[in-house]
Amino acid sequence: MVVDARPSHDRRSAVSLFARLRTAEGQADPFPYYARLRAMGPVTPAPWGNVLVTGFDLCDQILRSRDWLEPDKRWRDQQGAGTRWNAPSSQEMSNTLPALNPPEHTRIRRAAGTFGRKTLERIGRTVGRTTDRLLLSLTEQLRDGAADFVATVSEELPVATIGDWLGVPAADWPRLRELTHEQVFTQELLPTASQLARSDAATAELRAYFMDLVRRRREQPGDDPVSLWIHTFDTLEPDRERADESVYFLALFVLLAALETTSTLLSTMALRLLEQPLRWDLLAADPTLVPAFVEETLRHDPPTHVISRVAAHDTVVGDVEVAKDDMVHLMVGAAHRDPARHPDPDRFDPERARSDHLAFSNGIHYCLGAPLARLEAQTLLHHMISRLPRLTLAQRPTWEPRVAFRRLSNLDVALA
Ligand code: HEM
Repeated sequence: MVVDARPSHDRRSAVSLFARLRTAEGQADPFPYYARLRAMGPVTPAPWGNVLVTGFDLCDQILRSRDWLEPDKRWRDQQGAGTRWNAPSSQEMSNTLPALNPPEHTRIRRAAGTFGRKTLERIGRTVGRTTDRLLLSLTEQLRDGAADFVATVSEELPVATIGDWLGVPAADWPRLRELTHEQVFTQELLPTASQLARSDAATAELRAYFMDLVRRRREQPGDDPVSLWIHTFDTLEPDRERADESVYFLALFVLLAALETTSTLLSTMALRLLEQPLRWDLLAADPTLVPAFVEETLRHDPPTHVISRVAAHDTVVGDVEVAKDDMVHLMVGAAHRDPARHPDPDRFDPERARSDHLAFSNGIHYCLGAPLARLEAQTLLHHMISRLPRLTLAQRPTWEPRVAFRRLSNLDVALA
């Protein structure tokens, strides 16, 4: 049970704050709402009974601590039938890497492997070629007026990168991309019943797709990661069916993890670059600032604004008591603007002394794909400043009405 020592007006204002945060207008600039949330304290009870953490240091500590767990299958089952946690899409997610706790998490994470230097070099060549192709297409469209950077570039680069790496045919990429946009609702902060239904349908289609991919790779192995995972899980798991299921969950989650998040990073980065022409001047004059620009984008407005954990035992966060199995939402989008961590936090400044952030989480669940996301973002930014004519925003972009997973619906750009 959460001990709510705060006055009820705080709870009421938190309700109206989240109602507005969940709209497209709220998503266009969620930071004033976060500032109001932070004014209630670094830890505050959520209107729906969980706890919200907005302080950077507390979020960081919770992510790195063994006293906090992922909401795993056992926890989801406990929430009971009819809750969002028992929707088919949520149950399916409970088998994927970020919903596992040790020792199972340790076992599967080891089997998943990491992006080593050689793999990244190979993928890097594909990323370079794809980026060239996409920017050429953008330039051609710009001759006729404005073009949508999201549809032409930032939605395309991640699916081409991960699709090529997984060995998935290019003809399937558009459908897989659509399905990830639908599936993400089950991972949202407060999904509605209709959003969950869309997520359930997308999850079922993704299961059929990836189980078929695993079956085909078992019949005809190649040098792709799915074939490699089949080999690894065969050595860990004597039961073939269970080995195939494990490979399926890994492939499914890698796709889900890699697409929207990276697209949002690329779109937000382009928005930051174009909203102030001086930023383009700065990078063109000193391209060594490209990695810092990417990190500052991740701090200033990360693709994922909420990461959740449940208490392993009764504990206290800040001045709020949290009982075993209660959930806390780490509001990382807000924590990144915590003035106690980053001076003048609302200012976008790629030259700031530290841009440390929790965009890729921390601790044992630290994002496995962080090197790949950084590679894509840095390559795109380098190519933009060195190969494109000057661009400008044709109009303010619009945002999807969500809370946890940020997504720009469009970013119309034009020749400056
Ligand atoms: C900008 C892009 C990305 C962002 C912001 C991002 C963010 C995250 C976050 C916040 C987590 C941890 C969730 C938690 O702690 O509960 C995570 C985990 C993960 N990410 Fe990413 N991610 C990105 C790109 C990628 C890519 C490109 C891949 C794969 C190619 C990937 C694969 C994974 C995997 C496998 C995990 C699970 C790790 C674990 O639970 O041990 N991510 N990511």
